Amino acid sequence: MGIKIRGTGSYAPDKVLTNADLEKMVETNDEWIRTRTGICQRHISAPEQACSDLAEQAARRALDMAGVAPEELSAIIVATITPDHVFPSTACLLQHRLGATKAFGFDLEAACSGLLFSLETARGLMSANAKYRYVLVIGSDKMSAVVNWEDRNTCVLFGDGASALLLENCPGEEDSFLASDLGVDGNSLEILSLPAGGSRNPASMETVENKMHYVHMAGRDVFKLAVNAMVSSCRKVLEEANVSIDQVRWLVPHQANERIMKAVAQRLPLEEERVFMNIGKYGNTSAASIGICLDEMKRADLINPGDYILLTAFGGGLTWGAILIRW
Ligand code: UT7
Repeated sequence: MGIKIRGTGSYAPDKVLTNADLEKMVETNDEWIRTRTGICQRHISAPEQACSDLAEQAARRALDMAGVAPEELSAIIVATITPDHVFPSTACLLQHRLGATKAFGFDLEAACSGLLFSLETARGLMSANAKYRYVLVIGSDKMSAVVNWEDRNTCVLFGDGASALLLENCPGEEDSFLASDLGVDGNSLEILSLPAGGSRNPASMETVENKMHYVHMAGRDVFKLAVNAMVSSCRKVLEEANVSIDQVRWLVPHQANERIMKAVAQRLPLEEERVFMNIGKYGNTSAASIGICLDEMKRADLINPGDYILLTAFGGGLTWGAILIRW
């Protein structure tokens, strides 16, 4: 069973928030943000734009590239931690918006690793049953809705965006997905979480007053865990696929911090020129980031058929992983 990526799409809202803009909001400065994170600006949704609106734009672009009609989709998976609602799922909203009359769908929550977890899930479905011919995998997050704009430790890091990958089931062809390694560790709630709004701490005056509806993160701890987990997952998938790091054309890491990405590259080891980074323009767009990279790379002709591309991510949960693909 050969599963191929037939289309890519991405979208970032029009409004750009620069580091200079942030200097007026919290005690920070452009130099700190650039040197500690690599971020120069991020895109912020309009108040009326929610997760599904960002996702829809990315989805339409991926479908256009592939020349596939929404009615041909058999499934839609949306990776997000900022769905429009607790329910219905963003995938349901999108099914209706796109007119994907034959698709089922669901949201998948794995924070910044969401796109990788969704790709693995889609691949499992498609390998098990050829009736899943076209599956749309989306990463979409409106992080601006869950960031505390008074907390300089987190608000400078995140941005809004969406990306979509259209997968096609091509029996008899070579599979583009060569190996995967995914992991979770639920013992680290205190270092990265959004504490309220679920059934543990339903919304109340108290949760609002205590700012529990925002991202809470112990940055330094996350930094170290992220580097270790991504390096380890990358090594495992290379070994499983019997591909050497020298054969990898591109490392496409989740865009959380330029220093994290460079540390991963250094330890694999792989030259920085082969690491795709666009964090400067978008910040950390959570589940969207890897797909935004792939879409930019594809449209800029940076990917050729046969290229080995190593995707890796780390995020809240904790969640992490790597997937090796051959374009
Ligand atoms: O995608 C989900 C996963 N998330 C991540 O992967 C994020 C991982 N963590 C990181 O990227 C980094 O840890 C951060 C960018 C969040 C922070 O960088 P750091 O080099 O680890 O800085 P730090 O937390 O050790 O803070 C250094 C100093 C502190 O001041 P003191 O205690 O040394 O006086 C902070 O208060 O920098 C201060 N600081 C700031 N200064 C100016 C923290 N945020 C800011 C800021 N502007 N925005």
